Amino acid sequence: MRGYLVAGNWKMNGYGAVNTKLTRSILEGWGAGATQVRLLICPPYPYLRELGQLLEGSSVALGAQNLSQHASGAYTGEVSAAMLKDVGCEFVIVGHSERRAMMGETSAVVADKFAAALGAGLRPILCVGETLAEREAKQTETVIDEQLSAVLKRTGVDAFSTAVIAYEPVWAIGTGRTASPQQAQDVHLHIRGRLKAHSSRIAERMQILYGGSVKGDNAGGLFAEPDIDGGLIGGASLKADDFLAIAAAAASSD
Ligand code: PGA
Repeated sequence: MRGYLVAGNWKMNGYGAVNTKLTRSILEGWGAGATQVRLLICPPYPYLRELGQLLEGSSVALGAQNLSQHASGAYTGEVSAAMLKDVGCEFVIVGHSERRAMMGETSAVVADKFAAALGAGLRPILCVGETLAEREAKQTETVIDEQLSAVLKRTGVDAFSTAVIAYEPVWAIGTGRTASPQQAQDVHLHIRGRLKAHSSRIAERMQILYGGSVKGDNAGGLFAEPDIDGGLIGGASLKADDFLAIAAAAASSD
């Protein structure tokens, strides 16, 4: 059983007291959790260690939103995979569309970051997804294939055994416009199929998350699809009740 992963991508939001309160509320609301569901929060870098300490011994995991592809050295402002591991991260988001679009991260850089994460023992969450123009030009599968194969070529399929993939259509992120469960399922099935061509064992075990305007009221429909194994949640991860409603939708999809 793949189970569900419900991951909160806080992006560049929050500050000390707000983050602590949000984390405590998630912990209280989630309690012992549900067997088939894991929760994950990905706060901004400066808060990782402190929030990680709050999470210790709980069923909520800690992740970062980005990492450097380099191991160490003269890279001012960058943070390495080993540093993230050192402050208690288990996961790291790699290749989010905001970084691809705004920070110019190419698929080759994303592949290097994916490899760097694995090298330090972190579990990468590889984001893939098409823009609206690409979807309208019927390029969705081509775009996703390119994003996936850049990483597959760099690391090989075995490296995917501890990874997670997040399908995030760019047109659905922060727009309130969600992919329908069927639209998402079609792409998830395609992604699993691409992996299957390399290894059916890894493809069957791979958790493929959907991201893009997931809320408490649409999560259940998405999670009911056979190839949707959880969500990468932006806006709705910033309020404990909203995030917990999505977690509850995953728990009742068991
Ligand atoms: P959203 O963001 O839930 O606010 O659409 C998702 C993401 O960017 O990971």
